[in-house]
Amino acid sequence: MASPVPSSVLLLLLSCIAFFSASSQAYEYPPIVSGLSFDFYKSTCPNVEPLVRNYLAQLFKKDIGLAAALLRVHFHDCFVQGCDGSILLDGSAGGPSEKNAPPNLTLRPAAFKAINDLRTLISKACGQVVSCSDISALAARDSVFLSGGPDYRVPLGRRDGLSFATRDAVLSFLPSPTSDVTTLINALAKLKLDTTDLVTLSGGHTIGIGHCTSFQNRLFPSQDSTLEPTFAKNLYRTCPVKDTTNTTVNDIRTPNTFDNKYYVDLVSKQGLFTSDQGLFGDSRTKPLVTSFAANQPLFFGKFVYSMTKMGQLSVLTGKQGEIRKNCSALNSGKKVLWSVVDGEGDGSEVF
Ligand code: HEM
Ligand SMILES: *[C@@H]1O[C@H](CO)[C@@H](O)[C@H](O)[C@H]1NC(C)=O
Ligand SMILES: *[C@@H]1O[C@H](CO)[C@@H](O)[C@H](O)[C@H]1NC(C)=O
Ligand SMILES: *[C@@H]1O[C@H](CO)[C@@H](O)[C@H](O)[C@H]1NC(C)=O
Repeated sequence: MASPVPSSVLLLLLSCIAFFSASSQAYEYPPIVSGLSFDFYKSTCPNVEPLVRNYLAQLFKKDIGLAAALLRVHFHDCFVQGCDGSILLDGSAGGPSEKNAPPNLTLRPAAFKAINDLRTLISKACGQVVSCSDISALAARDSVFLSGGPDYRVPLGRRDGLSFATRDAVLSFLPSPTSDVTTLINALAKLKLDTTDLVTLSGGHTIGIGHCTSFQNRLFPSQDSTLEPTFAKNLYRTCPVKDTTNTTVNDIRTPNTFDNKYYVDLVSKQGLFTSDQGLFGDSRTKPLVTSFAANQPLFFGKFVYSMTKMGQLSVLTGKQGEIRKNCSALNSGKKVLWSVVDGEGDGSEVF
């Protein structure tokens, strides 16, 4: 019989090891671009990271859907003319203005509000030193972490852009959910992201929702043969006819948890968008999908790497751009309002 003392000591020791290996996980990062650094605000705003994290932790208690919305805002920001906060501008194609391109249908206004509220909070603490694009990058990281995903470091020092994301830029850089794998690979290649990045970043769909308009191509005029039958039946229940505004979750297994279940969905033919399910149907991407479905730590590690790559796309640094006072507006007050050309939008552009 082992005495109770040594076994409880052993237990304590084991849990310490588990704790340390989980909390101080060393991830591999891609090269950090010149002008950005992990400790950029060390002297000018040392508390910026806890400020963002604590604020979002409170907010997510009320609405966990906001985590997905914020992660997506950062993705859209980075894919369209670089991570420069252009997507946040009122009047840009992705921003919260009322007269924008199709993506405004599905980027949640609450996410833009959260970024602006963080702007106010951080300015109060440190003055106007932290950029809106950095706030967005930190918010995306904390959305991942607070939903159960990896905690990782974010290179900081981005500056906010002086130009609006036009509708054309949005349409040309954000792939449609109806895309096949070749289209997706080519779209990411324009940004110097590779096939591994594609499979890995698509894992962002482990949280959040999609509107019927984003996946109805798999239901009408006829059912996509790659849909698992019961899953398809439920999608028809949510979207009985074309062009309804209903939504469903991106990951049917754990819709609000950042984990590897998205890949289990794909292996089970329960991916939501054509762009998701295609990754399991193509020999270039299938092996990684299968590996991620079986190995969450592998996915987390690759996700940190690819997110950091994405988070540094065409960033402005040094004296370029500006630090916006209001994330929705240029400091100069210059506004661009542009209208949607009739006949261009057909719903398939909703991304
Ligand atoms: C690879 C190409 C991608 C395509 C085609 C795509 C497409 C879409 C579409 C159509 C939606 C649903 C919009 C709606 O109907 O409401 C969506 C949602 C979402 N996407 Fe992607 N996406 C892609 C990549 C990414 C990446 C790289 C990330 C982040 C790493 C991401 C994160 C999200 C999140 C979190 C949501 C849920 C948003 C919410 O619930 O408000 N996506 N995506
Ligand atoms: C943009 O969003 C607003 C609501 O925020 C909506 O009224 C408007 O119709 C949308 N415009 C387009 C073109 O999607
Ligand atoms: C929305 O989806 C629910 C089930 O998820 C369904 O009962 C309802 O009829 C749908 N509404 C519309 C307008 O299609
Ligand atoms: C920020 O800019 C937007 C867009 O111009 C404006 O609607 C909003 O009132 C501004 N917010 C603040 C706090 O000034």
